Amino acid sequence: MEAIIITIDGPAGSGKSTTAKIVAELLGYIYVDSGAMYRAVTLATIRNKCETIQQIVHLLNSLHIELKMSPFGQRTFLNGEDISEEIREPIITAKVSFISSIKEVRTAMVDLQRKIGAQSSIVMDGRDIGTVVFPHAQLKIYMNASIQERAKRRLNQMKSKYSESTSDISEITEQITHRDYADSHREIDPLKAAEDAIILDTTVMTIQEQCEFIVKKAKQLIYNE
Ligand code: DC
Repeated sequence: MEAIIITIDGPAGSGKSTTAKIVAELLGYIYVDSGAMYRAVTLATIRNKCETIQQIVHLLNSLHIELKMSPFGQRTFLNGEDISEEIREPIITAKVSFISSIKEVRTAMVDLQRKIGAQSSIVMDGRDIGTVVFPHAQLKIYMNASIQERAKRRLNQMKSKYSESTSDISEITEQITHRDYADSHREIDPLKAAEDAIILDTTVMTIQEQCEFIVKKAKQLIYNE
């Protein structure tokens, strides 16, 4: 049977990854977090103390990034090492927009993403998945939510993950606004909705409502149910 691709793009904190994970599980597809790949490259550039784009591009050839499914969700590996936790650190989040704006980095990651999509039915979330990586995906969703709501969600996420976190709402709002601007104004493959994407504003939606909406659309469009 043909592999099915569902793409979920949108800005930081729009609820993409939580929703994509559940939708994949409900449909029996594999969830793929493309942002984790850009985070893995960012971690490698920090560890290797890269200071120029040339050094980053050179480093790319020595990186082996893998996404593996486990009972606890997707795990990210860099040259065989599980870096799933480390790539969520604030230092990575602060630098990832810059690293993901480099043309050679994008070419390598898009290639990797397409290879994964050729192997099985997937739900992949990111910024350019519906526009660039899989322009012929069977279903494309573009998720958004107000900046206030996205900042609130991120703050709650940080507080539950890092109990010692001292971030406050204004700081998170500023960080998200900055990252959205960088991601949607970069020269290559910026964040935007594909022309044929379904726009889903999740500001007042629950995770369950978001998942039900997407699964229903998938059943209508892909399986004619
Ligand atoms: O989804 P995330 O916050 O983990 O993504 C981290 C960064 O990676 C995001 O700020 C921009 C970049 N990214 C991208 O450029 N293209 C993608 N398909 C996914 C993420």
